[in-house]
Amino acid sequence: MSEGAAKKEEKPRKFQAIRGTRDLLPPETALWNRVEQTAHEVFATFGFGEIRLPIFEPTELFARAVGGETDIVSKEMYTFDDPPTTGFLLDEDSLNFVNAQNSPERMERLLSGLEASVESGEIANTDENRNAISSIRSVSKELFAIPEPSEEGPEDVAMERLFAYFDQRKPFEKKLRDAWFLLHKRDVISLRPEATASVCRAYIEHNMQQLPQPVKLYYMGPMFRRERPQKGRYRQFYQIGAEVLGGSDAPAIDAEVIEMVMTFFDRLELQGVQLDINSIGCRECRPKYVELLRAELLKVKDKLGADSQRRIETNPLRVLDSKLESEQGIIAALPRIADHLCEECAAHYAAVKHQLEMRGVIYRENWRLVRGLDYYMRTTFEITAQGLGSQNAVCGGGRYDGLVELLGGPPTKGIGFAIGEDRLILSLQESGKGPAQQGRDVYIAWMGERAHATAIRAAKDLRKAGFSVELPPVEQKFGKALGQADKLGAKHALILGDNEVSEGLWTLKTLADGSQLKLPEPALIEHLRKSKAVSS
Ligand code: HAM
Repeated sequence: MSEGAAKKEEKPRKFQAIRGTRDLLPPETALWNRVEQTAHEVFATFGFGEIRLPIFEPTELFARAVGGETDIVSKEMYTFDDPPTTGFLLDEDSLNFVNAQNSPERMERLLSGLEASVESGEIANTDENRNAISSIRSVSKELFAIPEPSEEGPEDVAMERLFAYFDQRKPFEKKLRDAWFLLHKRDVISLRPEATASVCRAYIEHNMQQLPQPVKLYYMGPMFRRERPQKGRYRQFYQIGAEVLGGSDAPAIDAEVIEMVMTFFDRLELQGVQLDINSIGCRECRPKYVELLRAELLKVKDKLGADSQRRIETNPLRVLDSKLESEQGIIAALPRIADHLCEECAAHYAAVKHQLEMRGVIYRENWRLVRGLDYYMRTTFEITAQGLGSQNAVCGGGRYDGLVELLGGPPTKGIGFAIGEDRLILSLQESGKGPAQQGRDVYIAWMGERAHATAIRAAKDLRKAGFSVELPPVEQKFGKALGQADKLGAKHALILGDNEVSEGLWTLKTLADGSQLKLPEPALIEHLRKSKAVSS
């Protein structure tokens, strides 16, 4: 190999962000911060408090809440095995378990260790694991109840008694072995694909049903779904969401939650906002509608695409979501859920619409709006915005009464939404609402040792007063410094040379018009304050 080729080979690998993830850079991050700050402000005016949640949770939480058959859970989650790193289980192996079967004391020690591990979460606190442990407890009790054979009498008789004893133990030992292997000693965890499940988990874990109801919470942060990346669709994306848990299911709550998102979008001046609403009924009326839909779809099965054909069996409601051109005519003729809601759901839906009207929220009814998560009932909604192409849903949400109960909590009403922050930012940028390059208020051009000391002090005072200041680390000729100040978009250059320092009169240059002003040090901050107030 030539020296050149060897050098080429040595070149270190160039790393890139993993497909579907990306770096958010300045100045765009300033817009992210503004959006998040606005969310904090608007949501607080509606009485919501922030909850910060873990990024990973047991896989089972999402499977149970979002639904094992949904795309999100069945194909899009980032899932890991999470073996124990410390504690009891690391020291426990199958051999210890076999030994414990010969000593009630050892077995008791092992069982209390297992139970404590379930308490501490080291072993997943699932029905399966609890059942496995209680079955080890009861079967081992039966095992130890078998009387040990006496060693008295002739040897061959004693041996026979011993073999009979082993035979008697065998079925119990087998049962114990089965239970031991059923015990999932390691947890399977997933990066969160959404946060509603986590909020419900936290509501139960912290006994929030004892707080004044409803509990109103919001969150923001990254979510993870292994989807095919494209504009507006990422594998790590960000959501800003809110949930109302507990209390009643009054339609005014649904309407106020929607009013809050719309107020937030309005404050950000998001363009082309379109709110679609629907009711997908409840446990009583929806299954009947789904059966009717399935029957109707079967009649036209041959005319449907492969995806929809499959969904007739798995989830006929999702056929309504289809964007396939050839299916649109067929879907338009299908029965609509609004005509099949039970009396309570129909009344709830009508009241939600009335409440929205009272709040001046403009909506469009969309009977085809079904959501891709299993926990919804009654009100569902989606909001689209301008400039997003095919991935134009910027917010999705709905009511999910019963979800907390499904996760082991008390019967609890719930409603909420999540905004796709990446898409929100994209739409704001498309309509020219992105921030300009963040300029500095003051660039300090200094020359000379004495001036450097003064410049450091001036930077400290100006920053304390809230101005953004660029202080070059090394001396530069004034001409070069002014060029640099211009490139950084600085509004002013503060010129500090030995003359300025000894005279106590500082030169402030306004870069936009080139005007210069000589100011005594104490007047500088006041002058900059006034000029900032005029320009903003
Ligand atoms: P979702 O409709 O799955 O609902 O997601 C909400 C929003 O997150 C979407 O409308 C979209 O803007 C954004 N989003 C989803 N996937 C991606 C992706 N791969 N890339 C970029 N943005 C994405 C939920 O997550 C529910 N937890 C909402 C909810 C809260 N319902 C009740 N409470």
